[in-house]
Formats: sequence, structure tokens, C-alpha cells
Amino acid sequence: MKHAVVFGATSGIGKELTKLLVKDGYKVAITGRRLEKLEELAEEFPDQILVKQNDIQKVEEVEKVFEEIVEEFITIDLVVQSSGVGFINPKLKWDKEEQSVLTNVLGVTKLYTLTYNLFKEQQFGHLVGITSIASLRGSRAAPVYFASKAYQKSYLEGLYIKTKSIKSKKVFVTDIRPGFVDTPMALGDQLFWMAPLDKATRQIYAAIKKKKRVAYITKRWRLIAWVLKAMPAKILKSFT
Ligand SMILES: NC(=O)c1ccc[n+]([C@@H]2O[C@H](COP(=O)([O-])OP(=O)(O)OC[C@H]3O[C@@H](n4cnc5c(N)ncnc54)[C@H](OP(=O)(O)O)[C@@H]3O)[C@@H](O)[C@H]2O)c1
Repeated sequence: MKHAVVFGATSGIGKELTKLLVKDGYKVAITGRRLEKLEELAEEFPDQILVKQNDIQKVEEVEKVFEEIVEEFITIDLVVQSSGVGFINPKLKWDKEEQSVLTNVLGVTKLYTLTYNLFKEQQFGHLVGITSIASLRGSRAAPVYFASKAYQKSYLEGLYIKTKSIKSKKVFVTDIRPGFVDTPMALGDQLFWMAPLDKATRQIYAAIKKKKRVAYITKRWRLIAWVLKAMPAKILKSFT
């Protein structure tokens, strides 16, 4: 049986992806702060889910939980990092900026490093980071969210480059960049091309199975990515 870990499985993309993994025969360790949501999911698939309540901001606990999962599973095939927070915060209220950095940067870095080091030791494994189309440029309304996603994108690229020195060539890194997906996280009031959660998650899982380096979700967001990358900052000012 294959083993996966999903960080941020209490709702949205992480939760839906967990269901697909379970249906595909994986045993999945699921994390997040809301224990009742984790337990609900575990009740649906009691033989295939391991519940590990975790606040990713508390990095010592992330390490402890990660070690407990490895002890239980012995080896891990797939780690999906889906936890995250995002706020529209044009006034740059500090608590929101701080929450975003602690979750999306500090906590996520801890998980990325633990995962990479485990996979290097195992000589196999697949790390999937759910970043965002927001990783590509800056934003006036949610600067820290966009910046945190740019950080994740860059870190994942760094890890991908590092995998090239792993002898087995069996360690993979995938960067999933969703546009708008219909979850509590979808930010803002001018949302377009909002993907239903099940469609987005199916596309994410297909990209994982193909071990893609980068995938835009849904696929049409590749076009927006192309436009965003090419757009001069002067014009971007009117949009983000
Ligand atoms: N929805 C979109 O439009 C969209 C677009 C681009 C990228 N994304 C990215 O997709 C990922 C998943 O988001 P989603 O759309 O599925 O939103 P979601 O339903 O709000 O899920 C976010 C998950 O992150 C977990 N989380 C938040 N803070 C945490 C903490 N301190 N410790 C542990 N877990 C924490 C939440 O669990 P608890 O609250 O229970 O802890 C929840 O399971 C995020 O990284 C997000 O940035 C989403």
C-alpha cells in the first residue's frame, strides 16, 4: 500500500485530494488544526486515514508530527502541502501579515525541508506544493499572500534543482498553481474562471500522477500566467 501525507486536509483542496488518494488505495495521514474535521474524514475511510492534528506555524510540532507519521508508515510516497491562509489586507494590518508569514512561509518551509530530507534518505518520493497563480506577480490588496506564494514557488524550484543530485532519480517536486477554486480561500470580490472544487482537484491529481514539474489549475490559467508574466508593472497596477 502506498503512503501519502496531506497537510491542510480539513477543507478545500487538501480534503478533496485526500478522498481521491484514498479511493486510489493510498493510506493517508491528514493534518490541520480542526480536529473534528479530520475525524469526520477519518470516519468515512477508517482503515486508510491516520489523523494528526497540527498547527503548521508551530514548527517543533510539525517535526514531531512528521516523525510520528514516518514511524507509522515507515516510508512515504507522497507529501502534499495544501495548508495556507490568505487575506485581503490593503491596510497591511500586522496580525494578518504575520499570520500569513508564519503559516505560508515559516511552517511551509519546515515541512518542505523535512520532506526533502526524508525523500533523499529514502531515495524516492514526491513533494507537491499547492502554490498559486499569485506566485507570479505582486498585489496591492494582498501583498503578503502573493509574496508568500512567490516564496513557495521559488523554494520548490530550488528543491527540484536539488533533486538532480539524488542518484536514484526517483524524487519528484511538483508546483501546483491554481487560479480561483471554489473554497473558503478564494480571495477577493472580482473572481472569474472560478473552478468547482471537484474539477480543480481532479486536474491536480492528474498532474500529480504525471509527476508534472508545474501545473496551472484549471488548465486555462496557463494563459493568464503567460499574460501576467509578460505584463509590464505599469499596466499590472490596474489589475492586481
Ligand atoms: N481556493 C483558491 O482559490 C486558491 C487559489 C490558489 C491557491 N490556493 C492554495 O490552495 C491551498 C489550499 O487552499 P484551499 O483553497 O483548499 O483553502 P481552504 O479550504 O481554506 O484550506 C486551507 C487549509 O489550510 C489549513 N491551515 C490553515 N492554517 C493552518 C495552520 N496554521 N496549521 C495547519 N493547517 C492550516 C486549513 O486547516 P485548519 O484551518 O483546520 O487548520 C485548511 O485545511 C492553499 O495553500 C491556498 O493558498 C487556493
